[in-house]
Amino acid sequence: MGKLIGITKTKVAVFISGNGSNLKNLIKHSLKKDSQFIIKLVISSNSKAKGLQYARKFKIKKKSINYNNILNAEKHINDELIKNYIDLICLAGFMKILTKNFIKKFKGKIINIHPSLLPKYKGLNTHQKVLENKEKFSGCTVHFVNSKLDAGKIILQKKVPILKNDNPEKLAKRILKQEHLLYPKALKKIIARL
Ligand code: GRF
Repeated sequence: MGKLIGITKTKVAVFISGNGSNLKNLIKHSLKKDSQFIIKLVISSNSKAKGLQYARKFKIKKKSINYNNILNAEKHINDELIKNYIDLICLAGFMKILTKNFIKKFKGKIINIHPSLLPKYKGLNTHQKVLENKEKFSGCTVHFVNSKLDAGKIILQKKVPILKNDNPEKLAKRILKQEHLLYPKALKKIIARL
């Protein structure tokens, strides 16, 4: 944790692979006067990720990781986390699966946002599956990461109703809006207990 004018701020690394709208939103929240966290590092599994533009814009240190070899990739990530004294990892659209060893090393310090009401609809293509199953609700979940996919302890969830003419794109968009409210709230909740 870093001391900042009497306030201890949690040092966060955000892991992305794509658009980075959650990253952008977390940066926005981190810049609020009373924010309890500071984003120190952005890790991307993809050097062309659109989200990297936000690290550039807000002058946050960023690293694109070559994932040709997963163990080398995680060694590189681990070194960056240590070097930057990171307290907490926020996965936000990170499309790589972390190894058991990596997760063990940062136990209780990795959280993820998933666009469904876990434990329902783990994995990919959630919106399509939700619509095919004619669910009445979907939503989003922030949870701790453990060695099973999308299965760690739930921190917060938000329900989103399915509308008559929904398609995966429309639903994704409405859920993403809720994600942007939920992720900062979840951070606040767990930072108090770190
Ligand atoms: C979000 O829907 C998140 O729940 C999922 O991947 C998407 C990432 O969106 N894990 P963005 O890159 O933050 O815009």
